Amino acid sequence: MPKEEQGLSLDGQGKPLWLSLELTYRCPLKCSWCNNPLNFDDYTSQELSTQEWMRVLREARDLGALQLGFTGGEPLMRDDLEELVAYADSIGFYTNLITSGVGLNEERLVALKAAGLKQIQLSVQSTRAEMTDALVGARAHALKMDAARRIKAHGFPMVLNMPVFKQNIDLIGEMCEWAADLGIEYIEFANIQYYNWALLNRDELLPSLEQIRQAEATVNEWRAKLGKRMTLYFVVPDYFEDRPKACMNGWGAIHLTIAPDGVAMPCQESRVIPGLEFESVRERSLAWLWHESPLFRKYRGLDWLPEPCQSCSEKEKDFGGCRCQAFLLTGDAGNTDPACSRSPFRHRITEAVKEVVRPLRFKKPLVKRSASAVSTTFMEE
Ligand code: FES
Repeated sequence: MPKEEQGLSLDGQGKPLWLSLELTYRCPLKCSWCNNPLNFDDYTSQELSTQEWMRVLREARDLGALQLGFTGGEPLMRDDLEELVAYADSIGFYTNLITSGVGLNEERLVALKAAGLKQIQLSVQSTRAEMTDALVGARAHALKMDAARRIKAHGFPMVLNMPVFKQNIDLIGEMCEWAADLGIEYIEFANIQYYNWALLNRDELLPSLEQIRQAEATVNEWRAKLGKRMTLYFVVPDYFEDRPKACMNGWGAIHLTIAPDGVAMPCQESRVIPGLEFESVRERSLAWLWHESPLFRKYRGLDWLPEPCQSCSEKEKDFGGCRCQAFLLTGDAGNTDPACSRSPFRHRITEAVKEVVRPLRFKKPLVKRSASAVSTTFMEE
């Protein structure tokens, strides 16, 4: 079988090395940058059972998956999280919990430790209670701070994830100071990606170039100050770069996501692309879904790439960028990602960036994540 068909990957073996289980789309928070589908509530009654998730885990290990992220929604909303972690650990996964921290009380943390959980990624939006609570639409700041202290006290390796956007980007220095005091060793400043809820709120969330440059300088100052005590991860968002990101390391290359209802996807966003056939682990084996399904084969490898990607010397670095962003901004997932300056649709990004003004002026309130369906089409005029 040609390499591309095995699943072009960095290791060349075609294995879904990174498995993300979206255990649920339920969540106590209402973040305006949530990457869950706008109609997330349609899937709530269809969540896989404990036994079904265990079968997914087994089949994924058989396929060679090693790294496992339990995510959501808020995975702590599932009462069987500890059971699933214990099972995953027993069959050899390196388990990560990706959480808002809401619900991560002492009892659950102890149980997760006993179950073999290896690492926790905690999202924190700011060091200021009022701001965090306003951003996430709930009184969550104190719970997040408590969760951070507890995670450290229990000795878990921890990644602090700060989703970054216009409202909080100027607080990156404060976050470094707070995290250093707590002894956190790794912060990921995750400039948000504009899909789903974030795209709906893009005009209000997108930072200015000036803010990005300032944030980068702040991160570099803290890197110099903290040395090896802390690793700070900050990548300039693709809206401000000339080349697209190598999204998911290529479609169907090493990432496999299972949605709450069992649909297998190459990335967490791919449901936004119409016309693709989304199939579930309820009907198909994971091996078939990964190796054979039309969905995973559609944009796998390099043969399908359009121009200008096909003749570009950088195609093996970025694989033409992100399929979901290509669809959302151009109407066709098979186009070059407009984050690339060679894309004929690049103006759709440059115009969005040009609109950003500083000091902050908000044209409209943020749309909070909620179950009331928001119908919108993302393609720009
Ligand atoms: Fe789906 Fe990039 S988020 S391919």
